[in-house]
Amino acid sequence: DASLPAPVKIKLSDVGDHIKLRDTQDPESKGTRVRVVGRVHRERKQKDVLFITLRDGYGQMQVVIAGKLAKTYDALTLTRETSMEIFGEMREVPPGARAPLNRELHADFYKIPNHWKAAGGDDAITNRVQADAEHATLLDLRHLTLRGDVASSIMLVRDAVEFAFSQAYREIQIRKVSPPALVQTQVEGGGSLFKFDYYKEEAYLTQSSQLYLETCLPSMGAVYCIEKSFRAEKSLTRRHLSEFTHIEAELDFISFDDLLEHIEHIMCRVLELVMADPVIAEKVKDMNPDFKMPERPFMRMKYSDAIAWLQEHEILNEDNEPHKFGDDIAEAAERKMTDIINKPIFLTHFPTAIKAFYMQRDPEDERVTESVDCLMPGVGEIVGGSMRMDKFEDLMGAFGREGIDPEAYYWYTDQRKYGSSPHGGYGLGFERFLAWLCKQHTVRDCCLYPRYFGRCKP
Ligand code: 4AD
Repeated sequence: DASLPAPVKIKLSDVGDHIKLRDTQDPESKGTRVRVVGRVHRERKQKDVLFITLRDGYGQMQVVIAGKLAKTYDALTLTRETSMEIFGEMREVPPGARAPLNRELHADFYKIPNHWKAAGGDDAITNRVQADAEHATLLDLRHLTLRGDVASSIMLVRDAVEFAFSQAYREIQIRKVSPPALVQTQVEGGGSLFKFDYYKEEAYLTQSSQLYLETCLPSMGAVYCIEKSFRAEKSLTRRHLSEFTHIEAELDFISFDDLLEHIEHIMCRVLELVMADPVIAEKVKDMNPDFKMPERPFMRMKYSDAIAWLQEHEILNEDNEPHKFGDDIAEAAERKMTDIINKPIFLTHFPTAIKAFYMQRDPEDERVTESVDCLMPGVGEIVGGSMRMDKFEDLMGAFGREGIDPEAYYWYTDQRKYGSSPHGGYGLGFERFLAWLCKQHTVRDCCLYPRYFGRCKP
């Protein structure tokens, strides 16, 4: 109808004075005429009225299609996920009814080009994606399941959290760098290296950017990166991916206590920034109703005290025996302990033998390292970090013990030749952090297209 006012183009989340709602109790009042685009998230027919929940990635809007408009071929055959362009008047929802942002769009016109229509019948999205399907099936259909409420909420929270990390680092003058993914050195043990042929030389997908971050300290001060790390993990656990997003930072001229305080600061500051956004906070609360800010300082617990704790609580090691000093605390035991304590824990001072070659020994107890894992209820280890060996000879000794040829590491050991320093850093598994924040059972649901043992698609 050409006599209607020209529409204002809006996103479904837009609010503000440019959008007036018609007051349903006041016959004189008029709402803004808008034009929206999106996909049919849900649809419901009530007598002669078609109610659509439209989705555009920014929000959802209830659309009311009534009268002749509800009787067209397009309306009668409308399928979920069909794309639409809709024009109409914004109104308050009638008393007693509910809709996103307490408003609805009363359509006066809509367009559905033929190729915008979503498949129906057997091929309808509701038949392809069934909520009770096996998780693996849902992952095969990830490109479609991503359109669901929970999956899309996690991805939106993920975007906000990644931005918050960048902001939190910038606030304290930590600079971002971008180390390579294709490397010829290992960081976390040869067992989980993805090897490939690099112009006839052996190369690997990086396990961690740590060693490269260390090389930036002399010229850039503290640095961080948000990059992919790769691990050829041959186990199917709910917290291991073959490709994960690793948030790593390295700090110069610090003590071990400084490192712990920094990790605590970054994690809490990121949460503060994320939860200050009402849209994101609501999504987190929907998925994780019991979420509360962690209290600072985080509990500190030495590895040796954790062993004693596990003994006291009769939680056995992987050989079904009581834990003893030197055991790697396995995932199940670690999670049991974290769930019982039920708050963030800094587990520190792991034995040298079960930790990476580069970790600094504790000057007060040579058996252990200045290392830390941050454990969170529900997930377990989210962060791993340490002080780094800063003496050339110590590092060479460590390579010898691990059976690693130091030659390929010349660029790393040179750091100990040209102005060494007490320094340390950490890596935070982004998907694990999200699994904790969004209360997800597995990290697989916290990345766009998860890669893990046996899965490299879609
Ligand atoms: O404890 P990790 O192996 O430590 C390092 O790689 C250090 N070089 C990091 C550093 O100091 N810059 O890994 C750090 C974190 C873990 O705590 C975990 O959250 C995550 O990375 N992570 C994984 N996340 C998902 N899937 C995997 N296979 C992971 N392996 C490690």
